[in-house]
Order: sequence, then C-alpha cells, then structure tokens
Amino acid sequence: MDAQAWDARYAERQQWSGEPNALVAELLAGSPPGSAVDLAAGEGRHALWLAGLGWRVTAVDFSATGLARGRERPEAGRVSWVTADVLTWAGPDEPVDLVLVAYLHLPPPDLEDLLLRAVGWLRPGGRLLVLGHDVDNVERGVGGPQEPAILHSVARFGPVAALLDVDRLAQVPRETPAGTALDTVLSGRRR
Ligand SMILES: C[S@@+](CC[C@H](N)C(=O)[O-])C[C@H]1O[C@@H](n2cnc3c(N)ncnc32)[C@H](O)[C@@H]1O
Repeated sequence: MDAQAWDARYAERQQWSGEPNALVAELLAGSPPGSAVDLAAGEGRHALWLAGLGWRVTAVDFSATGLARGRERPEAGRVSWVTADVLTWAGPDEPVDLVLVAYLHLPPPDLEDLLLRAVGWLRPGGRLLVLGHDVDNVERGVGGPQEPAILHSVARFGPVAALLDVDRLAQVPRETPAGTALDTVLSGRRR
C-alpha cells in the first residue's frame, strides 16, 4: 500500500488501539528511557507510549493522516513527528538507543535494506526491535496481510540478526478476538 492508500485507511477511522502491542511493552518496559526512532509509526501508539515513559521519540511514517491522529493526543508534544518515506528518510541526527519497527511490511529487498540501515542508526548497545506478521500466519493464523512475500520470518531476519547480540528471534503467537495470530519478533543490540 502506498501513502495515499494508508491516508485513506486512516481517514476512515482509528485503525489500532491506543495501547502498545503487548510484546513491545513487555520487551521494552524495563529499559531505561533514552532516544528512539519509531519507524512506520502510524497513529503513534508506540511512540506515545514510549514518550510517556520518558523516551525522546521520533515517529516516522509516510501517512500524514495517520500521524495527525497521533498528534491529536494530549501527550503528542513529547514526540517529534516526521512525515517521510522510511525508505528514503536519512535517519536520526544522532545515534539512538532504540529503533522500533512494528508491523511494517515491505517486499524484499526493501525491508532487509532498511533494517540494515537501521542498525547503523543505533549507538553501540542500542536495540533494534522488529515485530510483525509471520509468513505462517497466512496458513495458520488470523488477520494481517496475505501476501507471503512481504511477511516476516525468522529466516528473513537472519542477515540483520547476524549484526546484533540477539535476545529474541522467534515466531510468537498473539491472541486476538478472532483467534491466534502468528508474529515474528527480532530483538537485539548493536555490537
Ligand atoms: C500496520 S501499520 C503499523 C503502524 C504502527 N507501527 C503500529 O504498530 O501501530 C503500517 C504503517 O506503515 C506505514 N508505512 C508503510 N510503508 C511505509 C513507507 N515506505 N514509509 C513510511 N511509512 C510506511 C503505513 O503508513 C502505516 O502507518
């Protein structure tokens, strides 16, 4: 989907709950606040949650309509909102403590190239956290995009994981009202 299609989707109604994804919250809850980039931030649920914990967050997305919804929230002033295509965005001015990429689905090699660049935006010891729909979700899960080429897998994250001290790389179930969805998570620190 291009930016226009995402704008139209966000214009229809709020897409995601205002709450962070439970696994993102679990994996980041104990981290001391620092600087973060939320890539493909959408309506900013993670950026706003992190900002509430004291993080300095840059939220990047090519949907101005999605970001506008995040900007309406009372705590929005603590987030820097950037309307940009993540594939051409130059990256943060300074190395950051965290790059979060939640439910961004792009074909190869775009996602792979972006994640390799994102590792370069981290300070040594900074964390890359990627979460999204697993390719097995098409056959064995519920919801999410149905094109296997854009979905995540442990194997797809292999090259970027090789650059990190990985604490989590796995297929993980996520309970939804419609049933169990399958996601892939990668969490690791830049060496
Ligand atoms: C499924 S939403 C996820 C939003 C958010 N990360 C979350 O978890 O709530 C995917 C987002 O990716 C954004 N997106 C897709 N391709 C993008 C691109 N090339 N550059 C910037 N944003 C992009 C869309 O606008 C959309 O907001």
